[in-house]
Amino acid sequence: MDTSSRKGIILAGGTGTRLHPSTIATSKQLMPVYDKPMIYYPLCVLMEAGIREILIITTPHDQAAFKTLLQDGSQWGLALTYAIQDAPRGIAEALIIAEEFLQGGPSVLVLGDNLFFGETFSKGLEAAMSRSDGASVFGYRVNDPQRYGVVEFDEGGKVLSIEEKPDTPKSNYAVTGLYFYDSHAPEYAKSIKPSDRQEVEITALNQIYLSKGALHVELLGGGTTWLDTGTHKSLFEAAQFVNVLQSRQGVRICCPEVLAYRKAWISRDELIVHARRLEKSGYGNYLMDVAGLL
Ligand code: DAU
Repeated sequence: MDTSSRKGIILAGGTGTRLHPSTIATSKQLMPVYDKPMIYYPLCVLMEAGIREILIITTPHDQAAFKTLLQDGSQWGLALTYAIQDAPRGIAEALIIAEEFLQGGPSVLVLGDNLFFGETFSKGLEAAMSRSDGASVFGYRVNDPQRYGVVEFDEGGKVLSIEEKPDTPKSNYAVTGLYFYDSHAPEYAKSIKPSDRQEVEITALNQIYLSKGALHVELLGGGTTWLDTGTHKSLFEAAQFVNVLQSRQGVRICCPEVLAYRKAWISRDELIVHARRLEKSGYGNYLMDVAGLL
């Protein structure tokens, strides 16, 4: 895997209005999904892909809380930096905000409210990581594609079209909130005119790659679960899903401490320090268990 130059971006801004009043005083991406803050899940996607330099984009008023939670990342073997999006002007604006951070290199952008799980998911990640040119997006079959970006492709997996929230979707494949881009993304993003809803649309960026014949789609099959957390109902269902999976298997998913330890980015002693700090919670107990102390 190319882990040397590709940097990660987590977009964790937005107003969270669909989750009001829960998100009036706190950021949506800091709300718990069962036993851990929502942002741990996309963070672990980047860690899984081997990405250690990550930019966290938040609203101005939420930045301090994210810094309290995630710090500079060194405790998990990461280098985290922070940037602000002062108004929700669109997902593709993340690439413009990140331009300096990316230093002309390739990137992975993940939305702070997207949850991915599954064995086969790692394979898709590897394929996207190893592709140095163009953009890669992930398609996931859903019942209600009109709520998402929708990708249409032929039998060979060649992308034919990509549309944002179409009234008449050309396929049932939603584009998930995980995007791999080559070094051109900031430059292309700057050329996008805001849409009718006044946003620099991520779908418009993907359409630019498509027009250059450089948009790939990785399909996430049955072995992967993709959940979004946009409404109280979907947030509740995501928490239920995590609970069922974890209780059934006796392992916790998307714990940055565990991932960092498994990747040898932190030592067992460091894992134990994390475990002791969280000792009073089941999460801390699990870290103890992974460190072999239970
Ligand atoms: O979840 C995948 C979908 O995400 C894609 O299929 C769509 O193509 C894409 O447009 C997006 O659709 P949503 O309707 O879910 O986007 P939403 O406006 O809810 O924003 C998604 C997350 O990104 C949300 O947690 C807030 C954050 N965000 C959004 C915008 C527009 C920002 O931080 N800044 C922004 O400017």
